[in-house]
Amino acid sequence: MKSIVVLISGRGSNLEAILKARLPVKVAAVISNNPQAKGLAIARAHGIEALTLDRKQFASREAFDAELASRIAVFKPDLIALAGFMLILGDVFVERFANRIINIHPSLLPAFPGLDTHARALQVGVKIHGCTVHFVTPKLDHGPIIIQAAVPVLAVDNETTLAARVLKQEHRIYPQAIRWFTEDRLVIENRGVRVIGAKAEHMALFSPGVDE
Ligand code: GRF
Repeated sequence: MKSIVVLISGRGSNLEAILKARLPVKVAAVISNNPQAKGLAIARAHGIEALTLDRKQFASREAFDAELASRIAVFKPDLIALAGFMLILGDVFVERFANRIINIHPSLLPAFPGLDTHARALQVGVKIHGCTVHFVTPKLDHGPIIIQAAVPVLAVDNETTLAARVLKQEHRIYPQAIRWFTEDRLVIENRGVRVIGAKAEHMALFSPGVDE
């Protein structure tokens, strides 16, 4: 069975969705840069080793990344899943685990890379918003896209309501992407990621219901 290490910084709802999906994968460890992350308790409740590596204890990002990489390497994971991990990983780290790191981002990339995606989506008035699972490359939030889910943006939405609608979809697409990875079905090509045996509608989900 393949194994993954999940990196978190906070609440851990995506981690929980991954665990509840009962994927044919061993979650070898959960690592948080934030000692207060609620997701650490979720991991432990599932009997998974949960570690903290506090960025503040390191003099530089490079030193933090190097320690994080060696902690991860102990578990020899096939995949590293960033699930609400709020630190930017440097090029050396990303290249060491090239094509083996994936991330969930709360927007339809390439729209709204970076932070505050829901506020920015509301500010510019997009009618459709969503989330993306992608491979991580050195350029932030720009790696090959595996799966996306779209949701409507309503006139009455605020950041909280929109974030909640998107989050539901995050919980659908992240386990799906990991399932494909564990089944060796993700092929990175020039134009992005091809999913062996999947139809277009499996990779692009639409959620027409406002709050299904
Ligand atoms: C999610 O919206 C994720 O897309 C973003 O940070 C949030 C983390 O939520 N990167 P959680 O910790 O998985 O609940």
